Amino acid sequence: MGKLAITGGEPLRRSPFTQWPMSTKEEADALQDVLTSTKWGGQPFPGKYADAFAKKFAAAHSAKYGQCVNTGTVAIQAALKAIGIRPGDEVIVPAYTWEGTVGPVLLINAVPVFVDVDPDTYCLDAKLIEQAITPKTKAILPVHLGMRFADMDEILRIAKKHNLKVIEDCAHAHGGMWNGQGAGSMGDLGAFSFQSSKLITSGEGGAVITNNLEYLELVQSYINAGRASLTDQFHHRTIGFNYRLGEFQAAVLGPQLDRLPQHAAVREKTIKHFESRLQNIPGIALLKPEPRITRLAPYGYVFKYFANKVNDIPRASFVAALQLEGIPCDGLFYEPVYKSSLFPVDAADFPALSWGREKPLDLRAMYSCPEADRAAYQEAVWFPHQLFLGTTADVDAIADAIGKVLANIEELRGLDHKAIRNQKLGRADRES
Ligand SMILES: Cc1ncc(COP(=O)(O)O)c(C=O)c1O
Repeated sequence: MGKLAITGGEPLRRSPFTQWPMSTKEEADALQDVLTSTKWGGQPFPGKYADAFAKKFAAAHSAKYGQCVNTGTVAIQAALKAIGIRPGDEVIVPAYTWEGTVGPVLLINAVPVFVDVDPDTYCLDAKLIEQAITPKTKAILPVHLGMRFADMDEILRIAKKHNLKVIEDCAHAHGGMWNGQGAGSMGDLGAFSFQSSKLITSGEGGAVITNNLEYLELVQSYINAGRASLTDQFHHRTIGFNYRLGEFQAAVLGPQLDRLPQHAAVREKTIKHFESRLQNIPGIALLKPEPRITRLAPYGYVFKYFANKVNDIPRASFVAALQLEGIPCDGLFYEPVYKSSLFPVDAADFPALSWGREKPLDLRAMYSCPEADRAAYQEAVWFPHQLFLGTTADVDAIADAIGKVLANIEELRGLDHKAIRNQKLGRADRES
């Protein structure tokens, strides 16, 4: 029996951290109001709660217009349709992200072009974008991943130079600001998710924000079965679908938006304390500070683990040991999308992958993104944001657990444990 919980010792932390999602009387009252209103769906369009929330959410992110939709994946899909992405167009995406960033590109029979991530941020590396641009490229789809922003200054400069549109995937960036500008308001459209792990959540849900009325109108038509948008100044008629957000979901979003600044302040304080505890720990490096992020939106707290500085004990063992100490965290949180088991792309289903080519593009085999590989399979350690919504004592427990695991790292050498085996697998493939 060792000192570490994974080898039979006492876990450092037994009490739970802040649970997520959380709710208050405001959410309960709003749900009750919907319940008795007889207006449960997204009709008449837009629902009262969905409309009020979308306006407030857009304003909170420096955008003029907002529209709720039923998932973050659909938010990206609707944004791609709004900027006029057509079958065969190419869209530049980061290699290291959730599959839901990329799926919508394929769904509308466009072609995702993967670009590696910046090791300082784990977000799309702007320095590599220009070499991926071809005559078919129509848009860049950066993701503000984890706790950082993609370099929007560079991305907007490149987009302007090459006449490309920009959609910001802000599924991780609720309330975040870059140079004082809200996430999602700098590109042509911003797409948000309200899936249950997100910083604001309705269980499932999403929103699109934009400063362009024409785009808003296109999004509204597309997600409302092709009906005319509310303003209909541009008279677009499109085949649309029912991607509306229901009122029960919309009702719980408003109170969370109101609480977001308070949550942001708590997270800022606990993260500052956490980072002060993580200084000069061999084997652990913080992400590079980014002064252009003027308000942090940490969907996950992310740091780097260097096995070569910790007796070559792999990240899977380190993370599993930390989990057993009572600290929720993850290593293989995302993979380069094209390598993920959730991306079994078959060119027969996506005709544009074959157009004008002797052989269809083999998205699973044609890319090599070393930084995405390093983040995915060796380095990145993710902690869910709610761990930082409690007290400094909570984050002290995380730092103490890290210290404990590192001090007893040799106990992990050659260890076989289900938690370690699971950590070697992508999230979708793990044993429960
Ligand atoms: C980076 C990123 N993009 C897109 C999505 C898709 O959002 P949803 O799950 O709401 O469809 C998610 C969330 O799951 C995400 O993390």
